Parts: sequence; C-alpha cells; structure tokens
Amino acid sequence: TKDRNGIGQVVLRNPRGASARISLHGGQVLSWRTDRGEELLFTSTKAIFKPPHAVRGGIPICFPQFGNRGSLEQHGFARNKIWVIDDNPPPLHPSDSLGKTYVDLLLKSSEEDLKTWPHSFEFRLRVSLAADGYLTMISRIRNINCKPFSFSIAYHTYFCISDISEVRIEGLETLDYLDNLCQKERFTEQGDALTFESEVDRVYLNSKDVIAIFDHERKRTFTIRKEGLPDVVVWNPWEKKSKSMVDFGDEEFKQMLCVDGAAIEKPITLKPGEEWTGRLELSVVPSS
Ligand code: BG6
Repeated sequence: TKDRNGIGQVVLRNPRGASARISLHGGQVLSWRTDRGEELLFTSTKAIFKPPHAVRGGIPICFPQFGNRGSLEQHGFARNKIWVIDDNPPPLHPSDSLGKTYVDLLLKSSEEDLKTWPHSFEFRLRVSLAADGYLTMISRIRNINCKPFSFSIAYHTYFCISDISEVRIEGLETLDYLDNLCQKERFTEQGDALTFESEVDRVYLNSKDVIAIFDHERKRTFTIRKEGLPDVVVWNPWEKKSKSMVDFGDEEFKQMLCVDGAAIEKPITLKPGEEWTGRLELSVVPSS
C-alpha cells in the first residue's frame, strides 16, 4: 500500500489478527496492534508524514548517530530516508522466520549521505510479527567500505500508555545514566522502579536485556528484550517541551513514553566487510 504522499507501506498480519504497519519512510514501524485491534504505539495527531521530516511516533530508527552526539543532523539520517524492500536478503537463523510474517528492508548510503558521512554501509532491517503478536526488529549493518567506521543506533520506540503518571519502568534500577537535561552528566539511578513527574531525557548504560513498562491504569505490561543493545533511552518531553515541538500536541506527552533499546555510549565499530547484528523484541501482556 501507499500513504497519502505516495510512500510505500507494508502491513504484516498474523493468523490471529495482530498487525504491524511499516513505512519505507525511515523503515519506521508506524503501528503495532494486538489481535483485538488495540494500538500499542503512539503516533502524534500532529505528525508530519513528508520526508525529510521524521514521523513523530511509532519506532523511528536513529542511525548512525544518536541525538546531537556528533556532526550529523539530530538522530542521524536513516529515519528521514526512503528505504527499499529487500527481496533477497542474506539468510537469517531459521528461528527468525519460522511461524512469523515479516518484511526485509534495506538502506544504503546515497551520494548525498556520503558527503556528510563518508562510509558505505548496508543496513538490513527485518521487522517480523510472530503468532503470539511479538514484534521483532533485527538490524544487520555491514561495512562495505575499505576503512572502519563507528556508529550509534537506537530504536526510538514511542509506547502508547494510559497516563504518564500511572506507569513505571522496571529494569533500570541502580544503573548509571547520562542526563541530557544536565549537560549529559553521569548519574546513578536509585533502587526503585522509574516513575514520572517531569521531563525525562536519559541514556541508561549497560542495562540487562529485559526491561518492563507497567501501565497500571490500562492493566498492560510491555516487555522489551534486546540483544547487542546495551543502553536504554528514556524520554518524555513533559509540558514545556511539548509546546515547543510543532509536530506534537500540547497534551500528548501524557499518552506516550519513549523507551529505546540502543547502543550509544560506546559506539559500535565495524572493520571493512564486518557486520553487526542488533535485535529488539517487544511484547505485551495484560496485567492485574
Ligand atoms: C530524545 C532526545 O531521545 O529524542 C531528546 O534525547 C529529543 O533530546 C527526542 O528531544 C526527540 O527527538 P526528535 O529529533 O525526534 O525531536
């Protein structure tokens, strides 16, 4: 299918009726729904669906830079580019295909990208939906240049939540984090689950591979499982910053929370010919 700007989209549907919608714009997942049709990802009512704007919501991929930690545009260029469907990707492990519906996408650097980031790469992304509704994103990034390069990556996942005051994150207790609101200074988290009462913009370092978001009001728990992605970004713009973003409603911060599997503090370096793989698996279960 195509969106109203003529950009291709792919809809995955599992036998039970869960679905995911992926846009070629950014290789971005724009929707992930349960078999009951409930949307699990947040997208702003003010989102702009025209490249080179990145879409405010879903799961934009920040690559090859996270935020403004480098000379590129904020969060790198991958989320602003048109990806293509990869009809003949190199094989993955059979368990990555068995019982899943999936799509393979590909991004390569354009002449224009090479001017700002002179490293030829192939970024293969598989998005798959399993029979139980789990959404998996597997990224394979290959250096096809003759010199090494380094990159950062984040799956900037906008979870749809009932109310920011009613959710908590477990799995980040006692970790060190960089706080973007304090000149990227390093702090250490306390022993309690993370709750929200003001703007948060942090990169938690070296977390374990399973993080959970509990939404008490909606009685729903999201689980994030990650591999190759040591860091976790947690972001909510709160009231003031929301008002400064043109593609975000003033009150929408209450219904979203970004929690990203990421590799930021220690960039990943690839030698010529080398490939890196990172995985993110999202699931949701009802909770009491
Ligand atoms: C966060 C950054 O992860 O992403 C924030 O740390 C930023 O500083 C936010 O505001 C959203 O970024 P953007 O470019 O999509 O507006």
